[in-house]
Amino acid sequence: MLTDLDKLLGSCLLEIEQCKSLKKIEEIRTAILGRNGKLTEKMRTLKNLSDEDKRVVGAKINEVKANIIEKLNSQIAKIEIKELEEKIKEEFLDITMPVSVKSSGFIHPITKVFAEIASILSGYGFKFEDGPDIESEHFNFDVLNMPSHHPARTMHDTFYLNAPADDYGCKLLRTHTSPVENRAMLKNKPPLRIFTIGRVFRSDYDATHTPMFNQVEMLVVDKDVGFAQLKWLIGDILKKFFEVENLKVRFRPSFFPFTEPSAEADINYSIINGKMKFGVGDKWLEIGGCGVSHPNVLKDGGIDPNKYQGIAFGLGIERLASLKYGIPDLRGYFESDERWRETFGFSPAEL
Ligand code: DAH
Repeated sequence: MLTDLDKLLGSCLLEIEQCKSLKKIEEIRTAILGRNGKLTEKMRTLKNLSDEDKRVVGAKINEVKANIIEKLNSQIAKIEIKELEEKIKEEFLDITMPVSVKSSGFIHPITKVFAEIASILSGYGFKFEDGPDIESEHFNFDVLNMPSHHPARTMHDTFYLNAPADDYGCKLLRTHTSPVENRAMLKNKPPLRIFTIGRVFRSDYDATHTPMFNQVEMLVVDKDVGFAQLKWLIGDILKKFFEVENLKVRFRPSFFPFTEPSAEADINYSIINGKMKFGVGDKWLEIGGCGVSHPNVLKDGGIDPNKYQGIAFGLGIERLASLKYGIPDLRGYFESDERWRETFGFSPAEL
């Protein structure tokens, strides 16, 4: 009888050991310990034994039962861990994999460059400021050191609105983002680090001019800032934007009424295999205007020019996008041609 029980224990333990599923292990448990189970049947035979044998065999049966229960529990735990591991393996998601999003929509290159520039400038602690598309002569010209008699006003090919003039002069579509400089100065106390990105309008239309285009404007007002900081900053921003570490920036003397001195910033490039390569060679490409804020501009912004200096730049977004992504004709940007968007647009996942 005792050897029978040992044999039974051995075969049960082996069966449990080899079991791989929770469902199967339940069946095994019933087959051993259930109402008609193998061990339960052995217990039933106890009543036919002598008292002496009952004690010995009974104790053995209890021992076998305890062994089986322990083995069942440990095997269940093993199976559960294994099932969990398999589930994790099956559901594993590698978040470092490149995303592939099938979408019928495209991100416009302007939106893409907007996001890139905003991210770069935010990295220096610049704050985004906004201004309206419909401006007045006051903000578009007067506070930028261009009083009504100033010849530069006529160079802006301005769209004037057919609306009554008020204390701020005629209404117009802003010709540049520089009006936001004054708005930001009036709103914030120096030191100031602001930028804006937005639409500007000029009456002009050919392969390199559209009546509406976008600019990014940046202004720093602080003590001890000047041309040197401006040149470093523009260089650093453009290096990040074009992702070219050894990009060179050159300043060419220029004129803007609102900056003194003023410069056009150029970056170096060469043509390699018919493609523009930035940061190599000694060809130069104009990228935008910049300078040290004219004292009148600071004064109109409520800032004392004897205590503070300003440095500023304005760059064309379409120009930046065209250069970085090789987009040839400016007019395509605004023609809503699906084929153009398919060629030059970006997947939403790339934003
Ligand atoms: N507003 C100028 C334009 O549209 C660009 C510009 C030049 C902006 C010099 C600036 C600056 O902030 O300092 O032509």
